[in-house]
Amino acid sequence: MSTLLVLHSSLNSASSVTRELTAAFVQRFLAHHPVTTLIERDLITNPIPHLTPDMVPSVLGQEAGPNLADTLIDELERADVVVIGAPMYNFTVSSALKAWIDHVYRAKRTFAYVDGVPTALLPPGKKVILFVSSGGAYTEGAAKSIDFVEPFMRTAFKFIGISDVTIIRAESQASPEAASAERSRAMQRAMALSI
Ligand SMILES: Cc1cc2nc3c(=O)[nH]c(=O)nc-3n(C[C@H](O)[C@H](O)[C@H](O)COP(=O)(O)O)c2cc1C
Repeated sequence: MSTLLVLHSSLNSASSVTRELTAAFVQRFLAHHPVTTLIERDLITNPIPHLTPDMVPSVLGQEAGPNLADTLIDELERADVVVIGAPMYNFTVSSALKAWIDHVYRAKRTFAYVDGVPTALLPPGKKVILFVSSGGAYTEGAAKSIDFVEPFMRTAFKFIGISDVTIIRAESQASPEAASAERSRAMQRAMALSI
C-alpha cells in the first residue's frame, strides 16, 4: 500500500498548468496503485499560515504539542511519494508552498544538527515529483541563474532526507508560440515516469 501526498500551490483554479499536470499524474498513479492512501492539500484554498512568534519553540524542537505542523509532518512522514504543483512566482515557489516548507522543517523531527553536522531525519525511500510552470524559460541560457525554484526545492528536500526529486517543467507559458508545445512535452514526461 502506497501513500501519496499531493500539494497544489497555483493561484489559478481554472486553467493552471501545474494543476493539470499534477492531476494527470495522480490519476495515472492511482490506476497503477489502486490501494493508495491519497492525502491532498490545496495550499491556496486551505492556506497554511505563516510562522508566528509563538510557533518558534516548536520549530526549534524545544516544545512538543499538537499543532498544524505536527499534522503536516505526519503526512510527510507517511508519504511514499510527494507530488507538488509549483508555479514559479517571482523567481521562486509561491509563498503558500514556502509556508508549508516552513512548517515541516522542525528541529529533532525532520532534521537535526548532530555534533554540528546537519542530519536529515525523514524516513528514507521517499520520492518527490515536482511540476513547475513558468511564464519564461529558465533551464538554459541567461535566465538559468535567476531560477530559484529548482535549486531551492532540491536543497530543501535533501536537507530533510529526500534526494530523489524529479522535476518536470512546463516553461515559456507567456509565449503564445511555445506554451502549448511545452505543456504537451511536460505531460508526456509526466505520463512516462516509471511509478
Ligand atoms: C504572482 C505571479 C508571479 C509570477 N512570477 C513569474 C516569474 O517570476 N517568472 C516567470 O517566468 N513567470 C512568472 N509568473 C507566471 C507563472 O509562473 C505562469 O503563468 C505559470 O504557468 C503559472 O502556473 P499555473 O499555470 O500552474 O498557475 C508569475 C505569475 C503570477 C500569477
